[in-house]
Amino acid sequence: MALLSLARVAPAGRLRGTLRVPGDKSIAHRYAMLAALAEGPSTIENFAPGADCQSTLACLRRLGVEIERGVTGTITVVGRGLGRLRSAAGPLDAGNSGTTMRLLSGILAGHPFETTVAGDASLSRRPMRRVIAPLEAMGARIDADGGRPPLTIHGAPLHGITHKPDTPSAQVKSSVLLAGLHADGATRVIEPAATRDHTERALAAFGGSVAVNGLAIEVAGAQRLQGRALTVPGDISSAAFWLVAAAGLPGSRIEIEDVGLNPTRIAVLDALRRFGARVQAEATDVRDGEPRGVVVVEHDRAGTLEVAAADVPALIDELPAIGALAAHGGEVVVRGAAELRVKESDRIATLDADERPDGFIVRGPAGGAPRPSGGFADAHGDHRMAMAFAIAALGAAQPSTIEGADSVAISYPGFFETLERLRD
Ligand code: S3P
Repeated sequence: MALLSLARVAPAGRLRGTLRVPGDKSIAHRYAMLAALAEGPSTIENFAPGADCQSTLACLRRLGVEIERGVTGTITVVGRGLGRLRSAAGPLDAGNSGTTMRLLSGILAGHPFETTVAGDASLSRRPMRRVIAPLEAMGARIDADGGRPPLTIHGAPLHGITHKPDTPSAQVKSSVLLAGLHADGATRVIEPAATRDHTERALAAFGGSVAVNGLAIEVAGAQRLQGRALTVPGDISSAAFWLVAAAGLPGSRIEIEDVGLNPTRIAVLDALRRFGARVQAEATDVRDGEPRGVVVVEHDRAGTLEVAAADVPALIDELPAIGALAAHGGEVVVRGAAELRVKESDRIATLDADERPDGFIVRGPAGGAPRPSGGFADAHGDHRMAMAFAIAALGAAQPSTIEGADSVAISYPGFFETLERLRD
């Protein structure tokens, strides 16, 4: 049994400060994988330091990709060219990372060898039929017990398909598009709702071609990608925890520099505005196809935020933080978010709020009411839940204890140190 990892979080008056957050996890996975498939070396600055992206690098190394770690978060990946990964000697370990497993499966489906990809206990519970079905329709064979990891991917010559996923998922879309690069003919994904488009932007940055027409995304097979220099922006999903704290705690002001402002990722800013915070965002630069800039959030008032099914795909990773928002006052109602149940933990159950089959309701103390007393929360080893509980705990009257706090290293090493620095 794992040792307990407890964090004690004291209440806060307010948070103030200017900071940068670690490199974006979603973007870093894609840059590393596409760099491996490209020709020539790529340098990736501000590569995400969390354990998930390290899992991607470890898997790529096992597939014969040379990767060097430089100073201050820059890595160099020596591309092997499309379809030229090498068979690994044993199973690959995707750790806690769904993105690693699902995207790599797409790539491996087009390689002429067999690879097993396993994960930790949490990843081993997550549904994989959503990638198995389209990759098998393209010509690969994938063994999985009950549709769960580990996956054994028998790569084969692939042919293009048109895939219409039932659930919006950037991981499924990306897995199919990456397989499509290795396929004969064109591969199309028609999404039920827009999801983050980092794969599409990254493909273009590496010199690939991708046609986007509303919710339809198409790639041709046998493209050549070219290695290049890229810089990962800060992760807005990590920034979200500070932005929520600033929105919730009176007198707070948080400024995040060099954060990714991709339009498919910034719904959290609008959600905070709807709740009653003052939010400013300015994209100052577009690099490698990804807009980036500065975000400032200040507390104004604690209102009511309703999140409906149509808002969910663009907010999926920020919903734990948004749950913490109302711990400080106001009300948050989330519906149409059953996908939360198949994340690193069942995030609806882990939140331990007023639970609904497809969402939750959190009501904070009414205006003038005393702060709730601190408590104990089990993050169930889920990084975003641990951070959400820490932000909620700031609004309590006494210190709180969070179990499973070391999981923050999945996406945000140094989270608790940064929290102490922002107390004012
Ligand atoms: C991600 C897509 C989302 C998100 C995950 C990262 C990605 O998952 O929750 O943290 O990088 O493509 P789904 O595709 O399962 O919605």
